[in-house]
Amino acid sequence: MEAALDDALAPERPERLREAMRYSLLAGGKRLRPILCLASCELAGAARSLAMPTAVALEMVHTMSLIHDDLPAMDNDDLRRGRPTNHKVFGDANAILAGDALLCRAFEMVAERSPGVPAERRVQVVAALARAAGAPGLVGGQVVDLESEGKLVGLETLEYIHLHKTGALLEISVTSGAMIAGAPGELVEALRRYARGIGLAFQIIDDILDVTADSATLGKTAGKDLIADKTTYPSLLGLDESRRRADALTTEATQSIEAWGEAAQPLMALASYITARDR
Ligand code: IPE
Ligand code: IPE
Ligand code: MG
Ligand code: MG
Ligand code: MG
Repeated sequence: MEAALDDALAPERPERLREAMRYSLLAGGKRLRPILCLASCELAGAARSLAMPTAVALEMVHTMSLIHDDLPAMDNDDLRRGRPTNHKVFGDANAILAGDALLCRAFEMVAERSPGVPAERRVQVVAALARAAGAPGLVGGQVVDLESEGKLVGLETLEYIHLHKTGALLEISVTSGAMIAGAPGELVEALRRYARGIGLAFQIIDDILDVTADSATLGKTAGKDLIADKTTYPSLLGLDESRRRADALTTEATQSIEAWGEAAQPLMALASYITARDR
């Protein structure tokens, strides 16, 4: 994964922009979205190399969302992936533009840097990724997240925020791998159910870790949800009930793909990792 990400940002001008893009993309991170994509491509019976450009694209969209999420106008964070945030190093304008460039490069990866993937499947992934990243997905979720700061929002709104700002990209991470492999609709739908479960569980755990973990382990500032007065799962339901919900969602998610037996093991293991992770 690291080698593929590195290759995707070969020398180009302007050098400062490339530096800013590489700074955040190659800063580490769990690489969960690309790995989910590769795992679901393999589950659907294709070689994982077929999905590698899309896996890279997913990490690019995700990294863009982190750069923008950290901006002073959004969460105003100064630590990400164990380093100063992009705008702290390159300035706000370059951070916005590096995010924009990563987002655009992501679509290039799927549309014209995916050798061996039939054109129809590439178009299908481009469209689904556009929806997941845009107003009906990540951006929509981020807008409601920000406008909910300082307000007491209910569980229904909080679930909307989590399923959109975080769940949508995780969903396309899982389903895109299967689409690229040309999986039957029945498998894509089972994977979608799996992804919805782990997607919500993932953000519940993110909220929990914000309270329970330290900044050194997380590589980002701990305790910031309370400071920004965000409504989170722990703030609404408490830590114990939040953890129970994440576990229940994970169990339900894995049940959706149980029928695929041995071939589903990597996705089962990734679901367990999401709830057990410490960063
Ligand atoms: C952090 O995502 C942002 C959320 C959507 C909660 P990750 O926890 O996957 O961050 P990295 O990629 O490992 O840095
Ligand atoms: C992350 O939500 C959502 C996106 C980056 C799209 P958070 O704001 O909780 O993520 P962290 O905690 O800063 O990583
Ligand atoms: Mg945020
Ligand atoms: Mg944030
Ligand atoms: Mg968070």
